[in-house]
Amino acid sequence: MAAIAACNSSPGSGSSSDTTSSASSSTDLSSNPDYQKGLALIASNDCLTCHKVDEKVTGPAYRDVANKYANTDDNVKKLAAKIISGGSGVWGDAAMTPHPALSEADAEQMVKYVLLLRNK
Ligand code: HEC
Repeated sequence: MAAIAACNSSPGSGSSSDTTSSASSSTDLSSNPDYQKGLALIASNDCLTCHKVDEKVTGPAYRDVANKYANTDDNVKKLAAKIISGGSGVWGDAAMTPHPALSEADAEQMVKYVLLLRNK
């Protein structure tokens, strides 16, 4: 009796989990719509004159921003407001220029992209 039960449980479950594990790629950021939309907005604005992903320029590296702030609604709203109004003092004396022409929705979309870059 015990031998039959053991035989039944082994074949099906083992092989099916093998095939699914190789197909999952949830860490591939470039297929994330928040990443794509945010990056497109950032690329069509002046952001990249002061920011790079991995290197501090005038502004902090986007990766450092992502590692500093948790990806929460609160932080997305707060950082979007900062992009629109500009400011300094969090990362140093250099100031971010205000972006009054940006909509809140667009600014939030940009922040969502930035916060996806977290690697710590
Ligand atoms: C003139 C240069 C400049 C431009 C252009 C610029 N930034 Fe910044 N950005 C900065 C600086 C400097 C800081 C650091 C401000 C501080 O220390 O409070 C900063 C900070 C930030 C932060 C983090 C804010 C915080 O309080 O931690 C985000 C997010 C950000 N920028 C996104 C953007 C986006 C998106 C754009 C394009 C719409 C943009 N920046 C354009 C210079 C710039």
